[in-house]
Amino acid sequence: IANGLGLTPQMGWNSWNHFLCNINETVVRATDDCWAAGQRDSQGYMVANPSTFPSGIKALADYVHGKSLKLGIYSSAGTQTCSNRMPGSLGHEDTDAKTFASWGVDYLKYDNCNPDDTNETVRFPRMSRALMNSGRPIFYSLCEWGYMDVAKWGGLYGNSWRTTGDINDTWTSNSMLYNIDTNDAFANPDMLEVGNGGMTYNEYVVHFSLWAIAKAPLIIGCDVTTIFKETLGILSNSEVIAVNQDRLGVQGKKVRKYDDEIEVWAGRLTRHRKAVLLLNRGAARSRQITATWRDVGIRRGLTVEARDVWKHETLPGKFAGSLTAVVEPHSCKLFVLTPV
Ligand code: GLA
Repeated sequence: IANGLGLTPQMGWNSWNHFLCNINETVVRATDDCWAAGQRDSQGYMVANPSTFPSGIKALADYVHGKSLKLGIYSSAGTQTCSNRMPGSLGHEDTDAKTFASWGVDYLKYDNCNPDDTNETVRFPRMSRALMNSGRPIFYSLCEWGYMDVAKWGGLYGNSWRTTGDINDTWTSNSMLYNIDTNDAFANPDMLEVGNGGMTYNEYVVHFSLWAIAKAPLIIGCDVTTIFKETLGILSNSEVIAVNQDRLGVQGKKVRKYDDEIEVWAGRLTRHRKAVLLLNRGAARSRQITATWRDVGIRRGLTVEARDVWKHETLPGKFAGSLTAVVEPHSCKLFVLTPV
């Protein structure tokens, strides 16, 4: 979509992973599902839920803009959103896009619940055109869960597209690792669970590192009003965020799987640098993991410096041919390699 937005992955906060439908304007000051009244008004406009967002969305947008942040809103390409508690935008795309623009909304997450019998490639482009005609640049985040090969067309109509079903706050089955494994495009494997309590510190470091190297959106999904120091340390590590926000915008991928536990992920960065992640998915023991230049895509014979971006430390010495480190169970190391 040619709206000039989303050239690097989006960053922000979304209420859904932690609060579900329990949101209101004073606690949340941002939205996912459940912000609107159950019905449109008599003229067909969506209106904020008068009991939870009594000041209205325009006032919320002004407040958020006053903090130099941008406001995102949520709807669905269906008759109702996924909670079934507020209307969706199907058949009301132009009205709703103009309404969002008039409120000063900067971002729309557009979900896929309660559709009619047309498919995603019809319903999602409609909102894309409506947003382009709304008179305001609005970041368009498709949340259609990877259906209809969205990686092939999501970028024509949107700034970001979900590639997976919903994330949950667990390391194992159908969760964080599953979502990143099935995320095969410059896209959105869903929002972060970091800080929601279901994983260990090291597991959340893995979660954040994978999202960073894969150029996935870094959308915080925990309650930031009660955040732990450790969680804040993960979410605000500037060198890890810099990997994610690198101007080149190339997705890092899994480049080597040694066995069920050990993987190497790598991706290109600006100035001929590489991001390299050594991942131990195993639960039992520390493992020595080697990233070879061949796997990482570095020219044979090239020497590099290696920076541990979590620790903010450059390793002593220079490396030629490969880099090896010991990685604890359910943990990773993330390096930036710079040619010398
Ligand atoms: C769907 C989406 C989630 C969230 C909920 C809200 O499940 O995939 O990310 O937005 O709807 O109801």
